[in-house]
Order: sequence, then structure tokens, then C-alpha cells
Amino acid sequence: MYLTKEEERMLNGEFGFATQKAMEILVALGKIYDAERLIRVSSVQVAGVSYKTIGEAGLEFIEDMAKDGRVRVKATLNPAGIDLKDWRKFGFPEDFAEKQLRIIKAYERMGIEITCTCTPYLIGNLPKEGEHVAWSESSAVTYANSILGARTNREGGPSALAAALTGRTPLYGLHLDEERIPDVLVEVKTFLRDASDFGALGYLIGEFARNKIAFIKGIKKASVEELKSLSASTVTYGSKPLFYIEKITPGWDKFELPKEKTEVTEEDLREAREKISDYFEEPDFVCIGCPHTSIEEIKKIANFLKNKEVRTELWIATSRKVKETSDKLSYTEMIENAGGKIICDTCMVVAPLENRFKALLTNSAKACYYCRSKMKVKLASLKECLEAATR
Ligand code: F3S
Repeated sequence: MYLTKEEERMLNGEFGFATQKAMEILVALGKIYDAERLIRVSSVQVAGVSYKTIGEAGLEFIEDMAKDGRVRVKATLNPAGIDLKDWRKFGFPEDFAEKQLRIIKAYERMGIEITCTCTPYLIGNLPKEGEHVAWSESSAVTYANSILGARTNREGGPSALAAALTGRTPLYGLHLDEERIPDVLVEVKTFLRDASDFGALGYLIGEFARNKIAFIKGIKKASVEELKSLSASTVTYGSKPLFYIEKITPGWDKFELPKEKTEVTEEDLREAREKISDYFEEPDFVCIGCPHTSIEEIKKIANFLKNKEVRTELWIATSRKVKETSDKLSYTEMIENAGGKIICDTCMVVAPLENRFKALLTNSAKACYYCRSKMKVKLASLKECLEAATR
């Protein structure tokens, strides 16, 4: 693989230990994928943050890299395993929190913004069409490619960190025009009511397309919240972090429609919701915010909860920055007065919630997939979730 003079010097250790390690990771990756060279990226989303996911080995690796590693581009951070401020209030164990805070400190030392969110695009990390970035966290990667029209592969924790420390990534996969051509057509023949319907659609697309790129027709309009739900679920149930939506995805009109096709009907959507869900009567945990909630969603929740009382555990997961806006607009107060909780920096999937709850009701198809190993799960609309929480 071709390296510039500066990249050679990074690889030879002239910029320090961490940059050298980072360059070794990128060169190894480039060789595996036959990349001809590295390209510069304008931002990085770093995953591999929760102590639950990365464990002791991950903590040691990050602390090692933090000894002399410093970011060369804007870098934001994925959710951690705890609310960094209110972890005691949410009942996270002291020893887990201690390890988690060490991980955060090490990332901070490297110059990574401690955003702890999977929706960096809601808080200012918003690449433009055609911009090369190196993001990890599958839903954010899919949103960047499919909704913003940016270009990124689905980076793992180490390769994203390596990109942040060098400002580069190997030129392969979704950075290339020829790897971004849609292969299958999905015609939506039904009306999608809300984010949970978009999640169920993502399940069907993922199951049908698998590792192929879907071109979706028939979606008349979609909000940011619905598109983030679709991005999260398509890649969870399939594996390709790119799809096109007619009239929404930048550059959607450059391609011929693929021949291989499927249709999605009201009946398909109903079946998808059933397959995603388990059966239970009442949830003991209602959680919204996978991917992390926007201020618009928080506003809806706050208005719904006015003059109501929350009777089950209700968590709303979001970024600290969105919560600050929610505080200013008094939404937090409205939610907390009703008995709901806004949890920052983490989510129901990456937090250590094993054996705490039995039945989760959520509007996220992705959360259903990942939480199913630790509790029963059911997909519902936001309204149904809030009604169940206040029954
Ligand atoms: Fe985000 Fe956690 Fe869901 S990281 S996409 S809220 S699994």
C-alpha cells in the first residue's frame, strides 16, 4: 500500500508510540482489504467505550494509547456503560463505574470529545455529502452513509481510534463509488406511522438485503427520528451500513433501479413487529432512546407526561448535550416530576442491566434485538410505551 512521507514517518515511530500503533493498525487493515492508499478523514466516531463491552484488555489498550496519543481530527465518543454524572442514582455498581471512568479519562487525554452518544449528527458532528469520515457504531455509520451521503466503512473500536490519531483511513469499501451501488429494490406499499414502524421496516430490509445495498421506494416523507430508527434497525438485522431512499438520500437519482426486488405490505410490517417481540402482559422497564433521543422526542415525551404519573421504570436515553437543552426548556423537570428519568452517556444495551428487569417495552427495533438476551422485549410506538409506563 502506498504511504506518503508523513505516513511513513508515523509508521516508523517518529510521531510517538500511539501514532505508530495506530498506523500499524491502518496498514494491516489496508492490506487485508487491498487498499491502494490511505485517505484523510474529516471526523471520527470512536466506539469501544463501555467497560461491559471492552473489558480489562480494552481498558489497558486505551490507557496505553493515551500515554502519548493525541487526535488529529474532530473525534466524538460513543455511549459508555454508565451515566457519567448520575451513575449512583441509576444503581450502577461502584467497581464498574470506577473502571468506566478510567476509560473516559484516557479518551479525554487523547483529545476525544466526551460526547458519549450514538447520534453525533444530532449534536454537531454532521459531515456533508461525499465527505470521507471514519465512524464506528453501526446506526451512526448507516445514518452518515444513507441520510447524510457521507462515506464511511463500519469501523471497529481500534480502527476508529487509529483513524482519530492519524486523521486517516484505508481507501476501500464504502469510500469507493463502485462499492456504493444499490443491489436490491424494496418497494414500501404501506404507510409508516412512526419510528417503531420504520424500525420494523428496517428488520424486513435487513432480512431481505443481508449484505446487499437496498434502494427503498415508497417512503413519502420521514423525520430525522424515523430515519435514525431505520438506520439502526436495517444494519442490525442485515449488515450493510448503507441504503438509498428515493428523494431523501443524497445522490439517490444517479442509479438504475435494481432488478432483484421485494415489496413491504401492512401485513409484512405486522409480522415483523411480532417476530421482533416476545409476549408479555406488563413491562417493568420502558426505555426510549435507541439511538439516543433528539430534543423533539424529549419534547413529545414531556408533553405526554404532563399531569401524569409514571408507575413503572421509565428511562429516556440521550446525550448530555441534548439533556442540557432539555433542562433549559424545562422538559427534564416535566419528565422528572411525572417520575420518568433521563439517562445520559449510556443506553439500555451497553449498560450492565443483566438481571435487573424482566420485560422491556421500547420503540426501538434495534434495542429489542440486543436486549433479548437479558430480558423479554416488545416493540411499540412511543405513545404505547408512554401509555404503558403511566397506566
Ligand atoms: Fe445507541 Fe445504544 Fe442503541 S449505542 S444505537 S442507544 S444500542
